[in-house]
Amino acid sequence: MNPGLTYCNNAASTWPKPSEVLDAVQESFQLPYFEAGRSTIEGLEDYPELAREALADLFHFDVPDHIVFTQNATDSLNMLIHGFCAATRDRFHVITSDLEHNSVLRPLTLLASEGKITLSIIHSDKGYITVKGVEDALVPETHLAVLSHGSNVLGTRQDIGGIGEVLYDHGVYFIADGAQTAGLVPIDLNQTPVDAFVFTGHKYLFGLPGIGGFLIKDPSRITPVRQGGTGVDSGNLAHPVDMPAKFESGTHNYPGIVSLWAGSRYISRQGVHNVLQKCQELTSLILHECTGNDHITLDNPEPDLPVISLSLDSLDCEDVGYILLKKYRIIVRTGLHCAPLIHQKMNGGEGTVRISLSSINTPEECKYVSHAIREVADHAHP
Ligand SMILES: Cc1ncc(COP(=O)(O)O)c(C=O)c1O
Repeated sequence: MNPGLTYCNNAASTWPKPSEVLDAVQESFQLPYFEAGRSTIEGLEDYPELAREALADLFHFDVPDHIVFTQNATDSLNMLIHGFCAATRDRFHVITSDLEHNSVLRPLTLLASEGKITLSIIHSDKGYITVKGVEDALVPETHLAVLSHGSNVLGTRQDIGGIGEVLYDHGVYFIADGAQTAGLVPIDLNQTPVDAFVFTGHKYLFGLPGIGGFLIKDPSRITPVRQGGTGVDSGNLAHPVDMPAKFESGTHNYPGIVSLWAGSRYISRQGVHNVLQKCQELTSLILHECTGNDHITLDNPEPDLPVISLSLDSLDCEDVGYILLKKYRIIVRTGLHCAPLIHQKMNGGEGTVRISLSSINTPEECKYVSHAIREVADHAHP
């Protein structure tokens, strides 16, 4: 079925998925899923293991067993933030930024309201936080920093390597939220000084919704917040401490894990550099066409990621989204993008029209989208 859509909401969830991802998921349903250490027929794939290896390869990470599967980035962030807090006895100080998604801000706000942490929110400038900004926010009680690698509103990408070095020097545990960059931005996690890196399956890893995870270097710093069946050491009432079972409880999301495996291989085969370059070229096509139009305001005219936030004067962003869908069959995301502090800073809490591309979009689609945006902008000013 070709629904005749031009889909530009990839920062929320990529669509369409590559056929090899869908085929792999479909194929995986043909036989019962393999369960390690259980009665099972021969020749089945151990998809969790395959997916850990594919992700380790993509992220340049030497320890596949330290890749943990969760439901999504929000679930990973909750497990890491609450797990770090559970492992740390005294009240401590946490650094975050005004660019963060609610997946970071809400757990931290809860912990602050319970008096378990104190919180500093670093102010970004034009979508960036600096190493100095992080350094200035440090106090002796700072034990944790939770910062995004890429902004889902402004499309900026942070220097998590430089930031991580400063945090490492001060003994601060660093959780990087890679929801917007995993699969899109090349990263060598063996070399990057982050303690935990969060990813989600349904965005640029081209997996299904409902699968995500994190890579963790030293699991001893995080207390697991869930316990239960793992299929490992079942006679023991205490939850296993070995990785990855330490953080994985209950039945895996096998179809999601298969999609993650196939999506990671799809990206690795193309090369993450090439994927990013293609996305940037597509993004430039739209930016070029929209720059210079007096009725279009670009919130960041030079994003690093394929994310364009804009507004049209005299039209609400929801109205723009409605017209784009009804008249042009273009899907964008309108409103607040779950990162309220940066919207507050940009324009007093107003939403934006967000156009976000993936490497599956085409130059023709980008020309069509630019034409539509310009036409809507100009018609509002006859
Ligand atoms: C920067 C960032 N962090 C976290 C999330 C949450 O991701 P998920 O939907 O996988 O929980 C998103 C999703 O939009 C995001 O953009």
